Amino acid sequence: MSKIAFITGVTGQDGSYLSELLLSKDYEVHGMIRRQSTNCTQRIEHIIDNKNFVLHYGDMSDSHNLTELIGKIKPDEVYNLAAQSHVGTSFEVPEYTAEVTGVGTIKLLEAIRQVKPDTKFYQASTSELFGGIPETAPQSEKTPFYPKSPYGAAKLYSYWVTVNYREAYNIFACNGILFNHESPRRGTDFVTRKITTSIAKIMNGTLDKISLGNLNAKRDWGFAGDYVEGMWLILQNDKPDDFVLATGETHTVREFVEAAFDEVGIKIEWRGTGIEEKGYCVKTGKLLVEVNPKFFRPAEVDLLLGNPSKAENILGWKRKTTFKDLVKMMVAEDLSNVKQSYPPPRNFPELG
Ligand code: NAP
Ligand code: GDD
Repeated sequence: MSKIAFITGVTGQDGSYLSELLLSKDYEVHGMIRRQSTNCTQRIEHIIDNKNFVLHYGDMSDSHNLTELIGKIKPDEVYNLAAQSHVGTSFEVPEYTAEVTGVGTIKLLEAIRQVKPDTKFYQASTSELFGGIPETAPQSEKTPFYPKSPYGAAKLYSYWVTVNYREAYNIFACNGILFNHESPRRGTDFVTRKITTSIAKIMNGTLDKISLGNLNAKRDWGFAGDYVEGMWLILQNDKPDDFVLATGETHTVREFVEAAFDEVGIKIEWRGTGIEEKGYCVKTGKLLVEVNPKFFRPAEVDLLLGNPSKAENILGWKRKTTFKDLVKMMVAEDLSNVKQSYPPPRNFPELG
């Protein structure tokens, strides 16, 4: 009998990679999608006709719908990936973020508790829980939490209710505390993909320069494809537990910019400081990067650097893709997207 998985957030970056992984392991994969006025299935288009892949309409704000879906699907494993996942946007829609990214989790856990309590539950927790306090780096499962955004605070609630339902009701409920992971499928309003799509447009002649916020922020960036394997391993462990998944390496946004331009043969020279800092092409002197304070956040997470030792030792998980290979993969894919389509794809890095 193949196992049955239910994924919320199946149309997102991680949902698409996780679906592929589980289908390759002969799972029957059920995914929840929101009804939208435009197509939201871009990332799962290539698997939508797979006979073991089933989509259901739903929303994290609708507890009746979640309870009905758990009853209908009777999943062995639930992966709760749905969220308003953009940290910057959470300052603009804080209440909505709390509702979906926070309270949504307990709605799903309650559905499991009431309808099918032997379901294994994975919660998409995040390094944003740590708040990037420099003295705490590298951050592990033992590092105290200090979220710095409505998103982080909502995820903190979800983290603790996951632990609570494990302790109170004996549900196999686990947190994956994942550090940033990226891919060619990353939303274009996250900084890495904003940079790589913008470089593709610059090379195509349809954009002059990239406008960014805080260039000094440091992130522990890995490849999403590696991280979904870790999610699956967390639910295959012999007991429910919480695990950090990270690369153990950190880079500034500035370094990501340099590495991405390097892939198209452009060396960046930085001049000025603070909001006057600008990146120029060494060869031509052309202005390619500027700072725009509109992308600063009301509170910032300065430094994320994870310690994945527990996952490495207990689950045998390890990231495979290096920082350089990740950047290469993302730039190459965006360059080929721009070449393939005319007019160039419309995305909204200006909102990121
Ligand atoms: P993503 O690309 O933004 O995907 C989010 C998913 O949630 C999308 O499928 C979205 O659906 C869905 N969603 C949003 N609001 C919903 C609602 N009200 N009801 C139902 N579904 C809703 O995020 P991701 O990068 O794949 O991340 C997956 C999860 O891991 C998220 O919970 C995120 O917070 C967490 N996380 C991510 C990272 C990372 O670096 N990527 C690190 C740590 C934790 P639509 O397509 O309809 O918008
Ligand atoms: N988005 C964005 N746009 N970020 C920028 C920009 C910009 O123009 N310029 C600088 N940054 C900085 C942000 O201020 C932040 O410090 C860093 O780049 C990374 O921003 P994002 O790529 O938006 O990701 P994030 O780290 O805030 O959040 C992501 O990772 C979390 C895990 O640590 C999201 O995927 C979250 O859902 C996830 O939990």
